[in-house]
Amino acid sequence: MAAADSLRDVSSTIPTSVTEVVSGLAAHGYLADEGLATAIFLSLSMKRPLLLEGEPGVGKTEVAKALSALTGGELLRLQCYEGLDASQALYEWDYPRQLLHLRAAEAAGTIGSDTEAVENELYSERFLVRRPLLDAISPRHDVAPVLLIDELDRADDEFEAFLLEVLADNAVTIPELGTFRATTPPIVIITSNRTRDVHDALKRRCLYHWVEHPDLEREIAIVQARIPGANELMARQVARLVAELRSIGLFKPPGVAETIDWVTALTSLGRTSIDGASVDASLGAVVKYREDADRVRAHGIDALVEAAQTAG
Ligand SMILES: Nc1ncnc2c1ncn2[C@@H]1O[C@H](COP(=O)(O)OP(=O)(O)OP(=O)(O)O)[C@@H](O)[C@H]1O
Ligand SMILES: [Mg+2]
Repeated sequence: MAAADSLRDVSSTIPTSVTEVVSGLAAHGYLADEGLATAIFLSLSMKRPLLLEGEPGVGKTEVAKALSALTGGELLRLQCYEGLDASQALYEWDYPRQLLHLRAAEAAGTIGSDTEAVENELYSERFLVRRPLLDAISPRHDVAPVLLIDELDRADDEFEAFLLEVLADNAVTIPELGTFRATTPPIVIITSNRTRDVHDALKRRCLYHWVEHPDLEREIAIVQARIPGANELMARQVARLVAELRSIGLFKPPGVAETIDWVTALTSLGRTSIDGASVDASLGAVVKYREDADRVRAHGIDALVEAAQTAG
């Protein structure tokens, strides 16, 4: 109970049980299973970052968005990529504006009389460009922001080490300005598609959850939550079809995003249930590699459709 009470101090909209996580996220269109909801609850109550790994399109990124909507905390997103460094993640000085300011000071003749004052001004918060990490630990938040560090596996090892340092301290020192410390530490969600392994040192700081594809009923419910008014028969048949496609060894098995797209595509084609011809015609909504499309066709679209139509 102590953990739950301390959570209430931060914000009354922070869920205080696994059930509240499930219902709170569902209210914002995200349908989490028990395992994911438990991981989220523990991450909130233990105030530890949550590392989510899983296949593409299983809802990793969306967790952070739904959590931000649920808690009322600002969503701060850091999209990782190869070559991402501290200045792009934390802060930069606005060099062009500093230069303009300097020129203006020169023109006004103030620079000769008080160089130090001009220099201090140049390195003041006015010329600081805050990036998501600095934003997340700056003391301006009343409600804990949700810091989404998306696709960490795309960033380099050095960035991971740097991130570890920031997350451990919830503080950052900018030489010219001093130390920034979070008064309300962020809720941190880190995602990875596991194109490489995240290092153990970072994993040790985080709680970990592998996000699975949803089961059939949940996937149907997700489609209905995401496409209000979606035809139920169509949602069910497409979800079954996608489940079949996930089992035939495709290079890129479809995620939930593709299920949603496929239902939208087939509905746009005027269908209320699946049939071989329209499934074939709209395959590009769900299979994005030529080899995978060949594999699906070699497997037999009519057989797949028939299985999806007749499955119990
Ligand atoms: N459990 C869920 N509840 C509601 N919507 C979901 C759920 N899972 C996935 N979705 C939907 O599927 C789409 C894809 O989810 P998301 O982008 O979060 O996947 P991802 O795991 O981050 O994929 P990637 O690895 O490609 O970035 C989202 O638009 C979201 O609407
Ligand atoms: Mg994502």
